[in-house]
Amino acid sequence: MTQTDSRVTHLPTGSYYTPSGEYDDLYRRSMEDPEGFWAEQAESLDWFKPWEKVLDWQAPYARWFVGGKLNLSYQCLDRHVQTEVKNKVAFYWEGELGETQVLTYNEMYRLTNNYAAALKRLGVKRGDKVALYLPMIPALPVFMLACARLGAIFTVVFSAFSGQALADRVEDVGAKVIITSSGMHRRGKILPLKENAVEAAVKCPCVEKIVVVKHTGHHTEMDPDRDVWLDDILAGVDEYVAPEAMDANDPLFVLYTSGSTGKPKGILHGTAGYALWIAKTLQWAFNPDQKSVFWCTADIGWITGHSYVVFAPLELGLTSVMYEGAPDFPAIDRWWQLIAKYGVTIFYTSPTAIRMFMRHGEEWPAKYDLSSLKSLGSVGEPINPEAWLWYYRNIGHERISISDTWWQTETGGFMISPTPGIQPHPLKPGSATKPMPGVDVAVLDPDGKELPNGQTGFIVIRKPWPGMLLDIYQNQELYQQTYWSRFPGYYLPGDFCMKDQDNFLWLLGRADEVIKVAGHRISTAELESSIVGHSAVAEAAACSRPDEVKGEAIILFVTLRKGTDPSPEIKAELTRHLRATIGALATPEEIFFVNLLPKTRSGKIMRRLLKAVATGATVGDTSTLDDGASIDEARAAFEELK
Ligand code: PRX
Repeated sequence: MTQTDSRVTHLPTGSYYTPSGEYDDLYRRSMEDPEGFWAEQAESLDWFKPWEKVLDWQAPYARWFVGGKLNLSYQCLDRHVQTEVKNKVAFYWEGELGETQVLTYNEMYRLTNNYAAALKRLGVKRGDKVALYLPMIPALPVFMLACARLGAIFTVVFSAFSGQALADRVEDVGAKVIITSSGMHRRGKILPLKENAVEAAVKCPCVEKIVVVKHTGHHTEMDPDRDVWLDDILAGVDEYVAPEAMDANDPLFVLYTSGSTGKPKGILHGTAGYALWIAKTLQWAFNPDQKSVFWCTADIGWITGHSYVVFAPLELGLTSVMYEGAPDFPAIDRWWQLIAKYGVTIFYTSPTAIRMFMRHGEEWPAKYDLSSLKSLGSVGEPINPEAWLWYYRNIGHERISISDTWWQTETGGFMISPTPGIQPHPLKPGSATKPMPGVDVAVLDPDGKELPNGQTGFIVIRKPWPGMLLDIYQNQELYQQTYWSRFPGYYLPGDFCMKDQDNFLWLLGRADEVIKVAGHRISTAELESSIVGHSAVAEAAACSRPDEVKGEAIILFVTLRKGTDPSPEIKAELTRHLRATIGALATPEEIFFVNLLPKTRSGKIMRRLLKAVATGATVGDTSTLDDGASIDEARAAFEELK
């Protein structure tokens, strides 16, 4: 990413910005007395039983609000239906085909109770695991809330993942029930979610039932012993299900994400700390008020959707927009149309989407009245200054602030972002600006020494924060090794960062083997272990190269087994294999066939060299390379393609 010093000095003003205090004071207080600070903040939650201890920090495990009891579905619904929020809109939902649904808080409350009752009848109880494999339809947040109500631990699997990827997650979490839909709409096509769910259920003996939400009209075969229609299990149900009194640190959900291993890891989040963190950070970063119409465009299958489509807006009693389909269907103006139609005031999306819109031209948003907007946001990968400025000018009309929010699945909610809800900072396009209160950031060199401003190193977080993951599900060793071993006592996110002379933070991308394709996280190991699973492949190395729209694109170098020759057919076949074992997001931009992969003398694949070849950069130090011919060959394959 090119860094720029062009500072946007315009500070958003006007009645919308009612900052709640001085950023520096609040931040200082959160550093000097974290427990006092968080105890005060936690007054905003409704507790069934108050906590006894604010923080129990036994590195690397933080347990917040120990002894407290609460339920997140109660936070999101029950307490609102006792007030005037009851009849307020919780979700304006719109399907890809244009159908709409308006769900008030009361309606969400009724549905959540009924879905919880139906799950209970299927035998789901506190501590059970439930997998949710659903498109962006209202049933998804309702089931998440119903699980939270019962104390069942849910795992949402992104609907674009394949049946095999679903099976991997269902098996790891040990889900008793998979909840899916007959299918989903995507750019006018119907994708067969139910069939993928069946593939997973057949592979995973833990699965007892598949619940199917009727969404698309097409026929799906139902196994009478295993499959049930949601409509059937809801028939005649209209009852109140008392929310379970959950321990503050009881697990709420597991969300799988990519790391350095071939298998996605289950990030485990708890109840109270998570609930508090996401609600507070939403307030600080976007400054919503009770008239806000909030639209976070993320799919609920990712952490952004969990925290900022479902739970935080509901905790705060906000109105949200939820849209099922693709941003460019039926045309590239669909999102702008929706902003104008629903009077969206806060719009939160990804750099990938912004760059796609940029490519299509500013005339598309210019056709719509976007004057309802009061706050913008960005998430998922570094936003390049050009995209930031395009967003600021063409969507924000140079009037409103952009919150570039840096965070991760593991952090639960925003970690670094402008905070117009506290005090608007001047902005610099491409910088996520300053840490949230409670986030103690440092930039370290490889030896763990703090770097002076202006130098790039590893970002670390030196204090636990309430939204921090509880653990990696059933893998404490990986948890300790991934986040806590390199710089003991400090949480290691795995990103490069630079603090500039004004103490603004620039997040500069991953420092590890994680690739970000259109903001989606995937690891080289995951891609490699998928592709070597194909019988024609002997060895493979995955890397990425920069992509103008997607941020990064996947490149694979592959050696084939004897008996298979490189051909366009085998290339297409391997692409199909990746999509079938992982999902559409694993689609490579290019597959290069070579006879040798560059390796160190100890046999480690040197992806750094392949990446240099794939980007046309200089290869640099090759002194540890075992056989120089491998690089020449990779380069020749690359040149041939050009
Ligand atoms: O590299 C950072 C990048 O996304 C990673 C986390 O990915 P994931 O867990 O899938 O969560 C994405 C949504 C929170 C980070 O390690 N990332 C996320 N937001 C930003 C970012 N990089 C730069 N700027 C951001 N605003």
